[in-house]
Amino acid sequence: MDERAAVTETLPADAPVARRGFGLSVKLIAMIIVTILAVEVLIYLPSAANFRANWLDDKIRVAGVAARVLDIVPDAMDVPEELADGLLASAGAAALIVRRDGQSQLVEKTDMPMPKTAVEADMRDAGPMNLIGGALDTLFRGGDRTLRIIGTPPEDADAIVEILVPEAPLRAELLDYSRNIFLLSLIVAAFTAIAIFLFLNRLLVRPIGRMTQNMVAFRRTPENATRIITPSSRKDEIGIAERELAALETDLFEMLHQRKHLADLGLAVAKINHDLRNTLTSAQLLSDQVATLDDPKVQRLAPRLVQTLDKAINFAQSVLDYGRTATAAPKPQPVDMRALIIEAAAEAGLFGHPEITFENTVPDDLILSLDPDQTARIFVNLIKNAREALETRHGEEPARIAIRHHEAGDWVTIEIADNGPGLPPRARDNLFRAFEGSGRAGGTGLGLVIARELTEAHGGRLRLVDTEKGTCFAIDLPADRLV
Ligand SMILES: Nc1ncnc2c1ncn2[C@@H]1O[C@H](COP(=O)(O)OP(=O)(O)OP(=O)(O)O)[C@@H](O)[C@H]1O
Ligand SMILES: [Mg+2]
Repeated sequence: MDERAAVTETLPADAPVARRGFGLSVKLIAMIIVTILAVEVLIYLPSAANFRANWLDDKIRVAGVAARVLDIVPDAMDVPEELADGLLASAGAAALIVRRDGQSQLVEKTDMPMPKTAVEADMRDAGPMNLIGGALDTLFRGGDRTLRIIGTPPEDADAIVEILVPEAPLRAELLDYSRNIFLLSLIVAAFTAIAIFLFLNRLLVRPIGRMTQNMVAFRRTPENATRIITPSSRKDEIGIAERELAALETDLFEMLHQRKHLADLGLAVAKINHDLRNTLTSAQLLSDQVATLDDPKVQRLAPRLVQTLDKAINFAQSVLDYGRTATAAPKPQPVDMRALIIEAAAEAGLFGHPEITFENTVPDDLILSLDPDQTARIFVNLIKNAREALETRHGEEPARIAIRHHEAGDWVTIEIADNGPGLPPRARDNLFRAFEGSGRAGGTGLGLVIARELTEAHGGRLRLVDTEKGTCFAIDLPADRLV
């Protein structure tokens, strides 16, 4: 019994399917969540950059208004302190510089403590990557720094304003914004993941799970027709797979039943055949005794009776042999091929044959690892066929059977050739078909089939070689069987 069969038998048919690793649903959920989060990070980065850019632009706009107020004051030194404080307070800045036409004006709040580290945010030529980088910098490295914002106010294209503000409020607002976005993303991700999962689960995971369970259950008890899957009416690939699976299981179920019936039938035939052979053997013994009687009539008929019984016994024997070939696995051992062929030829009735010359050129150092009994049966069948064919012909040249051998690549080939009449059409058309290929009276049509099955059981092949005259069969055996 092989290992798989053992597993099949010890498991109850309804045992759940053991899965290795994570199931399809877990993988699917993980994949959806990871994908959605990745997409959200991609969306979050530009939006955080945008949030920060708006905040900075706001400061520049307020600074622009302050710049216009300062415009009215001719000299920066004359700016009244309250006005300066008011302007700076509205922008939340510690200092404001306005540059226009090569001149600069500076207002500053001396009493406002500012962090020593400064960082510049130039909004005049800020590209998207700069802005994203700036936002990340504020988030991860910012906080206790002074921000120097440079820009051109929207209503005053000639001026350049520069303001110094603490970065902490920007960072706090950006963190707040990020937190909100993050929470919102989580909600969106959860909803989307659930929706996609439910959809895919219904569309793919459940039907695939159903098919998997079915295949496992069917394999455990393929003779149970209720285990054949009932396909759904879907028209897509899953529907096709279900219908194909159902067809496959139905075919398998029918084949199994057919095989079981045939096996039962074969068993019955074998039993009948066995008894028949025994009865015929008893009849043969009787006929042998009858043949010893002196009656001239009996003397004339007895040989024909003996011959007929012989044929019948042979027939019964070959059917029994055929039944046995399918079951026995070869038991290889080193075999001297030359000796084996000589014995097979003797068994096939070649030695002392009045007409047929036997030629065996297989060297005596050709040793192969094969089952000796089965190999002998291969040669006996083939040599017997050749002898039978040669006995029916009335040829000009002397009848001859030759056994040759050659080795090429992965194969050791042994050929059995004769110079007989060649295969009759019936045998040629039904070559290697049990019971159908016999082209001679009294033949069962099993010899070649048995020979081929036995050759294949050894990993080899039996083939008919094209010849101009006579018949030649080649037995190819794998070279790794050489000892
Ligand atoms: N060397 C050969 N020369 C000519 N015909 C052959 C040769 N070998 C086989 N045949 C033909 O092929 C047929 C099938 O051979 P096979 O050995 O399978 O069956 P069989 O000899 O008829 O019966 P059995 O089962 O008793 O061997 C033979 O009946 C014969 O007509
Ligand atoms: Mg034969």
